[in-house]
Amino acid sequence: MTSVEIRQAFFDYFTSKGHAILPSAPIVIKDDPTLLFTNAGMNQFKDYFLGNRKAPQARVADTQKCLRVSGKHNDLEEVGVDTYHHTMFEMLGNWSFGNSRSQPGPYFKKEAIAWAWELLTGVYRIDPDQLYVTIFEGDEKEFLPRDEEAFACWKEWIGEDRILMGKKKDNFWEMGDTGPCGPCTEIHIDSRTPEERKKVDGKTLVNQDHPEVIEIWNVVFIQFNRKKDGQLESLPEKHVDTGMGFERLVRVLQQKHSNYDSEIFSGTIRAVEEISGKSYQGTQDNRDIAFRVISDHIRAIAFTIADGQMPSNTGAGYVVRRILRRAVRYYFSYLDVKEPMLYKLVNPLSAQFQGVFPELASQQEFVEKVVHEEEQNFLRTLEKGLRRIEEQFEKVRESHPEVAGGAAEIPVVFSGKEAFELYDTYGFPLDLTRLILRQGPKGFTFSIDEQGFEKEMQQQKNRSRAAGQVDTEDWVVLDPQGAARFVGYDTFETTSRVLKYRKTQAQGKVSYQIVLDTTPFYAESGGQVGDTGTLMFGTEKIAVVNTKKENELIIHLTTRIPDSLEGPVQARINLSQRKKTAVHHSATHLLHAALRKVLGNHVQQKGSLVCEQYLRFDFSHFAKVTEAEWRQIESLVNEKIRENLPVVIREMDKQEALATGAMALFGEKYGDRVRVVVMDPGYSIELCGGTHVGHTGELGFFKIISETAVGAGIRRMEAVSGQAAEEYIQKELLSLEAVRERLKNPPDLLKAVDRLSLENTELQKRIEHLETDQLHKIAEKVLDSAERI
Ligand code: SER
Repeated sequence: MTSVEIRQAFFDYFTSKGHAILPSAPIVIKDDPTLLFTNAGMNQFKDYFLGNRKAPQARVADTQKCLRVSGKHNDLEEVGVDTYHHTMFEMLGNWSFGNSRSQPGPYFKKEAIAWAWELLTGVYRIDPDQLYVTIFEGDEKEFLPRDEEAFACWKEWIGEDRILMGKKKDNFWEMGDTGPCGPCTEIHIDSRTPEERKKVDGKTLVNQDHPEVIEIWNVVFIQFNRKKDGQLESLPEKHVDTGMGFERLVRVLQQKHSNYDSEIFSGTIRAVEEISGKSYQGTQDNRDIAFRVISDHIRAIAFTIADGQMPSNTGAGYVVRRILRRAVRYYFSYLDVKEPMLYKLVNPLSAQFQGVFPELASQQEFVEKVVHEEEQNFLRTLEKGLRRIEEQFEKVRESHPEVAGGAAEIPVVFSGKEAFELYDTYGFPLDLTRLILRQGPKGFTFSIDEQGFEKEMQQQKNRSRAAGQVDTEDWVVLDPQGAARFVGYDTFETTSRVLKYRKTQAQGKVSYQIVLDTTPFYAESGGQVGDTGTLMFGTEKIAVVNTKKENELIIHLTTRIPDSLEGPVQARINLSQRKKTAVHHSATHLLHAALRKVLGNHVQQKGSLVCEQYLRFDFSHFAKVTEAEWRQIESLVNEKIRENLPVVIREMDKQEALATGAMALFGEKYGDRVRVVVMDPGYSIELCGGTHVGHTGELGFFKIISETAVGAGIRRMEAVSGQAAEEYIQKELLSLEAVRERLKNPPDLLKAVDRLSLENTELQKRIEHLETDQLHKIAEKVLDSAERI
């Protein structure tokens, strides 16, 4: 079976069991402060597990792009060194949401286990003799018993001697420090040769980091919620969350001994061979590790960029940068490639994934550009760092002139501080520095003060942890049954009730998060800022300073809470702010469409900010926008404003919306039902959850105020509309008027300014002449009065 067929067989099997097949959520996470990247298939369903929302369908399956390089699940250092860990990987999963009322309904351990078994042995025809399963053996400290139910279910399919007991570390799955969790049962496969299997019992190798006895499927039974104080709280409804590593599955079914030998990676490996002129042997040699690192890392890099995450110096962007640098340093050090090469791998990759993740193919040129520039910058930094080490070498040579290339081996300790500086400023990981030192001047043996390095590292970690740490308390739930609803598209004030609230603390500042049953407050998303406003508890007025989303939960941020949060609360948004923001949101749509009309269809939204004062729009485009294009874009938007188009907003099925040509954004998660905003069906149709004006005429006027570059292939425009545009124009005209006055109201202002500046240049010249003349005269005088001594 090809990898495409293997993936499809998974979908077909679960479709036959009543599952709806959903698309992968973006790999970059937006509305969850606890995660930077999707690290498990279940992330996008977290709201269902937490009971914040009811799942529309009880049974769902998908393949999810995941990344495990930050946070609780971090595999980065293993990647490439072994043959079965990855940065980005696909996780095939099937789910059952216990709180869904749809038909067919939810299921639990019995079905989950039976189906996993049937798919592996019946559909994929894996020999049952190669399989082992583990179940949770219980944990005294947590007061958790052994998972007898899973044990009983497995006994129907597999011999008891192949059901192994697992500890909490392996058989109790937790997404993060808090949140949904539960016991799991893992399926492991022994893919060693029959001879090897005869020699050593596979059972003894399960969970022992053996490269050929590996876990392929984790079936989690979500039954608990881990609270902040570590307590486990039973969930009212139970769920199933399974995750099967696609790359491992393909390798097993294609009977390879390493994931990198399967067809998923072999194309990229071949491309790396061509570029580097070296060949891959699959050994533990650094050169072969480099091949694996590169062909793994390019996937993570390309897909995160395609989902909208640019490499940068902080947060998620820094993770992408670190992965890219790890790949560069491997080809630089071990494949002897000194030029950017990763960007050349985007092409084969986008062809390979066209059918399942088309977002890469449709942005190929853009992704290549970003990767190329990032590589080039790092290669330059690498050179600078190398020069710095060279200076150290020079110092060492100078202090031991007697050695001069001799055979003596003088030990030299490279300071931890210096090594840390190379790491911190130049992105040199310790092993790279080590490698370079090994190739240092003859006659010396270098070692690094690793303790010193660790100390510096720890200090930096402490610094950034103190800066970024947010201490979040558990929710105080007032109404466990109530569901939260956003009504703020057409209602700006509601009488509501508090469902739950909690306290957070960051850098000594206390704030509160409040969830209401119904709310008119728009939570920051799609670039549009969150509403501010007030909550009236009786006569006590509490200011809402911002509104944010956590997954789909709308959270009102305040700096204090009243004595009692029971009873009705009057929720009112700041309407003037909301209206001005809506003007800029509608203007953003008009601008987006104008950019595509004037510059071309390659223009993709890459970021946006919509607020009361202005709008900011980042888009992919490879050249500076010319003066003429700028005018054309502005005129087109203003023309659409004067047409006073109705802004038509409808909810519809996603497929139907896409068929109308609606623009969806890469890296954005859309449900089955989407909100479509239309301003002239022939001009602008966008999927959008934001708030808008009723007619484009309300915008009044539109003005671009700047156009700049923000990175490789990305331009940024800032613009104003509505009252903000009026104020901007007034300010500009006022300063123009002041200039006119200063120049005594000339009939032609421009000519007057030109004349002034011409005059100025001439006067400058004359002064210079006079000064030179004077200097000459002084010089003559001095010479005249000179005496010979
Ligand atoms: N959440 C589990 C995991 O990531 C199963 O999907 O392993």
